[in-house]
Amino acid sequence: MDFLEIEGGKKLKGAVQISGAKNAALPLLTCTLLSKTPVHIGNVPNVADVKTLLQLLENLGAKQNFDNNQALVDTSGVNSTCANYDIVRKMRASILTLGPLLTRFGHCEVSLPGGCAIGQRPIDLHLKALEMMGADIDIRQGYVIASAPKGLKGANIVFDKITVTGSENIIMAAALAHGTTTISNAAKEPEVVQLCEALNKSGVEIKGIGSAEIEIQGSGGKLLDIADFSVIPDRIEAGTYLCAGAITNSEITVTNVIPEHLKALISKLISMGFEVLKTENSITIKPSSKILPADIETLEYPGFPTDMQAQFMALCTQADGTSLIDERLFENRFMHVSELLRMGANIKLTSHTATIYAPTKLTGADVMATDLRASSALVLAALAAEGTTRIHRIYHLDRGYENLEGKLSNLGAKIKRLSE
Ligand code: EPZ
Repeated sequence: MDFLEIEGGKKLKGAVQISGAKNAALPLLTCTLLSKTPVHIGNVPNVADVKTLLQLLENLGAKQNFDNNQALVDTSGVNSTCANYDIVRKMRASILTLGPLLTRFGHCEVSLPGGCAIGQRPIDLHLKALEMMGADIDIRQGYVIASAPKGLKGANIVFDKITVTGSENIIMAAALAHGTTTISNAAKEPEVVQLCEALNKSGVEIKGIGSAEIEIQGSGGKLLDIADFSVIPDRIEAGTYLCAGAITNSEITVTNVIPEHLKALISKLISMGFEVLKTENSITIKPSSKILPADIETLEYPGFPTDMQAQFMALCTQADGTSLIDERLFENRFMHVSELLRMGANIKLTSHTATIYAPTKLTGADVMATDLRASSALVLAALAAEGTTRIHRIYHLDRGYENLEGKLSNLGAKIKRLSE
């Protein structure tokens, strides 16, 4: 199994090109199930989750080719509607096949994703919405058995909670449904916006894109001719590298980004004393003489992203004072805390609030990755720690960060990928 070995205390400098967004690529890949023609998607990040989803589409009978960040997917030959457990358990976002398979074929069996390190992560809102669109939903032996033999019909959906993949599943289901679907309390993340824009460009009339109220005119079962498009940059990867600059007190630039997507994050860095410069497609962070403590509450977009909570917690261990982080979206997204404590951090937890007493001197240690973003927090801590850190189980990192050690090495970090 691979692990990362990082020699801390090095200054970083230079620029890093950000890859396409994993959380945009995944729904864009499953929406190819709505297309009668092959779909070409550019700027697809070469990460494990993308490769897992492409494998799932191939298992369903699709043809796919993925090379040099370009994906070509042809789902005309799909001859199975069963997304089975051995793939779904590797990547819960496989649940994004539920809406497209059901609306296209009128039936599908998708394994329940099960929980994950950061929380129980139910899909009740996805299922309730599909039932409102006329689907019969049954849960049997760990599978969602869904059927809508006459196709799905438009409905007025109101989500009790804002759900990113729930919104995406229903947007895709509604694209081929009979009639109009409205979604109230829809997610507004840039990744949801890109899915709507791609479908809109492919002839699906969608109103309210980017707002909490979306209206989708279904095609009445007719497959789409989905246009080619390119995945938006990964705002979370970009934020992670900005934190790498911040925690090592270095000046670095992230390129191929959309600064608008990182507004909450940039504002937090500025409030912590950093200078942040933006151009149309790049962001530069400049060192701060003193890192000020932060008070963070994670919220749905455009609020502070939960996917950046762990990374900022690592940064807060170097602040000059006590920081507070309130995790409002997931019930167990503090798995990185115990590992940070082993490196010398001083953090106290209540149910969903972490208090970070700082500054604390971090020292290198053997630590274990537990989930995707927790792992990136450990990388950041290792960059600032004195001595050597070895991060184990980095398959979690490989799910969502393309060539992390290469990109960090190019910035001057002393990092190696080794096998144990
Ligand atoms: C998406 O997960 C992202 N994944 C997550 O990123 C991200 O952390 C999350 O949105 C929040 O921004 C992808 O886009 C592939 P939710 P998702 O449904 O859609 C509750 C990463 O690191 N809920 O928006 O699964 C749920 O328990 C990953 O890249 C229900 O109760 O998250 C949570 O408390 C981690 N019932 C809240 O809503 C449901 O049916 C938000 O979950 C659905 C969700």
